[in-house]
Amino acid sequence: MKILYVTSEASPFAASGGLGDVMGALPPVIASAREDVSCDVILPLYKSVKEQYRKDMKKVADISFYLSWRKTGASIYILKWHGVNYYFVENHYYFDRDRLYGEGDDGERFAFFSLAVLEFLRVSKTVPDILHANDWQCALSVIYLKTELSHIPELQSIRTVFTIHNIEYQGKFDPYILGDVFGLDNKYYSIVEWDGCINLMKGALTVSDFVSTVSPSYAKELCYDYFSFGLSPMIQSISDKFVGILNGIDYEAFSPENGLDIYRSYGVEDRKEGKAYNKRELQRELGLPEREDVPLIAMITRLTAGKGVDLVLHVMDSIMSEDVQFVLLGTGDAVYEQAFSAFGDRHSAFKPLIRFDRGLSKKIYAAADIFLMPSKSEPCGLAQMIACSYGTLPLVRSVGGLHDSIRPMENGFVFSDFNAHQMLDVLQSALKTYRDKKCFDALSDRAKKSDFSWQRSAGEYLDMYDNLVK
Ligand code: GLC
Repeated sequence: MKILYVTSEASPFAASGGLGDVMGALPPVIASAREDVSCDVILPLYKSVKEQYRKDMKKVADISFYLSWRKTGASIYILKWHGVNYYFVENHYYFDRDRLYGEGDDGERFAFFSLAVLEFLRVSKTVPDILHANDWQCALSVIYLKTELSHIPELQSIRTVFTIHNIEYQGKFDPYILGDVFGLDNKYYSIVEWDGCINLMKGALTVSDFVSTVSPSYAKELCYDYFSFGLSPMIQSISDKFVGILNGIDYEAFSPENGLDIYRSYGVEDRKEGKAYNKRELQRELGLPEREDVPLIAMITRLTAGKGVDLVLHVMDSIMSEDVQFVLLGTGDAVYEQAFSAFGDRHSAFKPLIRFDRGLSKKIYAAADIFLMPSKSEPCGLAQMIACSYGTLPLVRSVGGLHDSIRPMENGFVFSDFNAHQMLDVLQSALKTYRDKKCFDALSDRAKKSDFSWQRSAGEYLDMYDNLVK
């Protein structure tokens, strides 16, 4: 069984969030799970892909094709990585940009990418049994397959899976784009139409043979308006081909044992001393008082409403009136960046670090005592799992993947309503627990032993693939 993952990011080549982590970790695990399974991944060759990877890539094809009336083309490169063939689609016009997304022509860029993938499959005659597309950027790869390209014999045997990593981003466009940019005939409008717009995620949900999302709880939540950003009727209508499978984390990248990026490595046995050392070093680096006895709270997050940052801002003064230190790392909406920066000026024990910094993030995971993640909605969330791996106790809202991975007083602290004072209550009781050293240590040890490895979920993915090719 041959599986092709179509994705707009894959770590370590290009990543802006959780999708990149998933596409860097899941395919190698699936590929090594069974003798009869092989995996390929295909993604755009962005400008940001580092030379250390580019130098080992080999060109395997030059393709040319029409995207609507635009004559265009791409070179396809291959790089073997952890037992998986990673293919890269090179087109300087579309992908030599300073960022992965957020360009005015994202619709056209990812239509191009999706069509290039299928054109490459056609000419190279290496057709997978399963094409597994992720998020709206790759939705057109399954849509083209079942519409404009459905007459191509070489592609007809392909079965398709589409995964929702975050339903907030659906790929919505003005209807005029259908023919002029996507090159889709008007007769296909009803497949991609939702609320009078073109909605690529809705199109992919319609035509895919199977659909998944990244946690069982999020799969249930998506049936409700509150979580679905308008797509709940669609989700309800596909219940017979929809599952939630919990993500895992890549323990090679996120373990204090390997010491990567942190001040000192540690394991289960010396977790206490290891964390104390890392805490002291981080305090020194950030100019915080070097105190072992003060609880260090951390947040590493995109600063957007979905991550629940409003709750934190609402009770920030109360949090900082406790004897705590608080480090926040992340970028996002300007209002939040400014609000947190302003709190940094008011409270010397609060350090807002408004930037994206992978190395520093690991130092914070290693140093912190409590990891705050009060999301409004969380498809899966990886940070709470990473925190556990560093023996840092997550304090989460019970939603989506947070609900499926963190259990109160087992490997973290949990509150249920999207309510700032409920969060504050649970935080205050966590601080009480912190002062009960024995109890807090036992919890940290248990969190550290939580198993969020991909091996756990790989079986569920393989079952889904097996059922599709049967
Ligand atoms: C998105 C979701 C996040 C999930 C990740 C990987 O970034 O917001 O919850 O963990 O995708 O699936």
